[in-house]
Amino acid sequence: MVDATHRDADPAREHEHGGASNEDWNDADFVARWLERQAERAPERRRQFALVRAVIPRLPAEEFRYLNLGSGPGNLDELLLDQFAAATATLVDFSLPMLMAARARLARFGDRVEYVHANLASADWAGGVGGSFDVVVSTLAVHHVEDPRRIRALYGEVHRLLGHGGMFLNLDRVRPARPAFGPLAAWAAQDPEAGLSARGHGDDLPGTLAEHLGWLGEAGFGAVDVLWKDPGMALLCGLRDHLHVPEEAHAHDGGEHAHPHTH
Ligand SMILES: C[S@@+](CC[C@H](N)C(=O)[O-])C[C@H]1O[C@@H](n2cnc3c(N)ncnc32)[C@H](O)[C@@H]1O
Repeated sequence: MVDATHRDADPAREHEHGGASNEDWNDADFVARWLERQAERAPERRRQFALVRAVIPRLPAEEFRYLNLGSGPGNLDELLLDQFAAATATLVDFSLPMLMAARARLARFGDRVEYVHANLASADWAGGVGGSFDVVVSTLAVHHVEDPRRIRALYGEVHRLLGHGGMFLNLDRVRPARPAFGPLAAWAAQDPEAGLSARGHGDDLPGTLAEHLGWLGEAGFGAVDVLWKDPGMALLCGLRDHLHVPEEAHAHDGGEHAHPHTH
């Protein structure tokens, strides 16, 4: 279940490179340093989590069930569970230190959260989560599975866990379509107004954007799209069948002109 890898990895470098081969997510010191590094990146991470939250087409009081693959310390879940007060979450991660951090962060949500210790590198993980889900999310985790064949299979497992109208949202690093694009992220990050973060070339990442879209289609998703993209990262969306977006008028509280996400 637990993958032991090198113990001398530097979490600060995880974000700069593809980040898939030198981490030990089961090493408490590595995870502690990764969490410190996240604090430094808080504004950027918050934007990423808000992006995922923004595209979940659910009303704040609607009941639904979601699954987070490679949840890490539960930062995205904190945003989602606050926003969607009747949602319940299942977090999957193969790192016990990460699951402990998530438990601490999400303690106030009580039994709305279930924690599953499982390795996405094997199809067995799907048996541990039980039932079907309305939404499956994942942020910066799937590329850590590394093996493109395994990611293709994982997309199929996700598809089978989604119920009617289900949606898969995967925000992750993608390999540049051509190596020539590799240096562009670091270059673009030099313009602070654009708000882009510096990243490594990403040429060791398991799939290009086009490949991921193809794998999602092969997995059975009826419609796939890219909801957001910057140099090196993309928010992929796969719909199991149809997409229902609440009418904005219904999302307003008593007819007030407030965005549902501000409640
Ligand atoms: C870069 S962190 C991202 C954490 C969180 N999703 C976020 O965006 O902050 C990658 C996470 O994926 C988990 N992970 C990596 N490989 C995994 C695998 N094979 N099975 C389950 N979890 C895995 C790690 O333990 C870690 O929590």
